[in-house]
Amino acid sequence: MTGDWNIRGKTVFITGATDGIGKEAALELARRGARIVFSARTNEKGEKARAEIAAAGANEPEYFLCDMSSLSEVKRCAREFLREHNFLHVLINNAGVMPPQKRESKDGIELTMAVNYFAPVLLTELLLPLLRQSAPARVINVASTLHKEGDVNPDTMRGTGPYDIYRAYAASKLALVMYTRRLRESLSGSGVTAAAVHPGWIKTKLALGVLGESSLVARILLPLTRMHSPAYGAEPLVRLATQIKAPSSLYFERNREAEPSPKIKNAALAARLWDSTRGILSPYL
Ligand SMILES: NC(=O)c1ccc[n+]([C@@H]2O[C@H](COP(=O)([O-])OP(=O)(O)OC[C@H]3O[C@@H](n4cnc5c(N)ncnc54)[C@H](OP(=O)(O)O)[C@@H]3O)[C@@H](O)[C@H]2O)c1
Repeated sequence: MTGDWNIRGKTVFITGATDGIGKEAALELARRGARIVFSARTNEKGEKARAEIAAAGANEPEYFLCDMSSLSEVKRCAREFLREHNFLHVLINNAGVMPPQKRESKDGIELTMAVNYFAPVLLTELLLPLLRQSAPARVINVASTLHKEGDVNPDTMRGTGPYDIYRAYAASKLALVMYTRRLRESLSGSGVTAAAVHPGWIKTKLALGVLGESSLVARILLPLTRMHSPAYGAEPLVRLATQIKAPSSLYFERNREAEPSPKIKNAALAARLWDSTRGILSPYL
């Protein structure tokens, strides 16, 4: 069910539009006439991004304050959105982290899993009734090709044991792609579609944080690794949000349909992951 899809005038909610890929996607979608609502961690960053997005488009952008590492804040943000908006046509779960050291969220969840997986799942679940009501609608989850190197253990979703930055990140993105598959299936025939997308290797705060922006090694290596600009990273998000045809596949690498991790097809693992996820999120659903 695609109808005459045109992003002009449509309401797009994008998380993490204060920097990097998300900000560039918000700017481009605003240029194309979308009504942008975004999340920000602070008023300072929210106001700055709002002014830039307003200058790019005709519609007045709006933001909600939300620390995505807190489940109660995600719930509050979703509630505020539902109170103030009658439509949601595109939800882009973009906010993400890759912390160099192990950190724990307020809810006692390892930070990468909290921000990259639990927050988008909770936000999506809380906004689903409005997405269904606004159909045709789309959910775009910003994943990473690194999910293919990930493992999820549904019994330890809060994060236990020693921390490895890549394992933590890969696990969070694998869990997100598995959720995207579940979402696609559960929304079949509703007019709401979901897809996960890898934006490419993009020179952003997240990536620089991993390499250590100020280190000599990073400064020498970065140009060699040919990382792209945030605007380049935003392209596939914008394409999935604006193309007339609803995303036909579960997973994209940039603009190409791609095979996700084979683990995605493990139905028993997916069922256990969903049970564990629902258990952790149930006080907020
Ligand atoms: N860069 C890459 O090469 C690459 C590759 C594959 C996938 N990705 C994915 O692309 C997405 C965007 O990342 P990026 O590279 O553009 O990174 P970025 O420049 O660091 O931007 C991340 C965005 O998420 C927000 N954010 C982080 N933690 C948050 C929290 N606790 N609560 C609310 N917002 C929070 C940031 O807000 P602040 O502005 O307040 O910090 C910022 O707006 C992520 O999901 C990332 O995993 C990136």
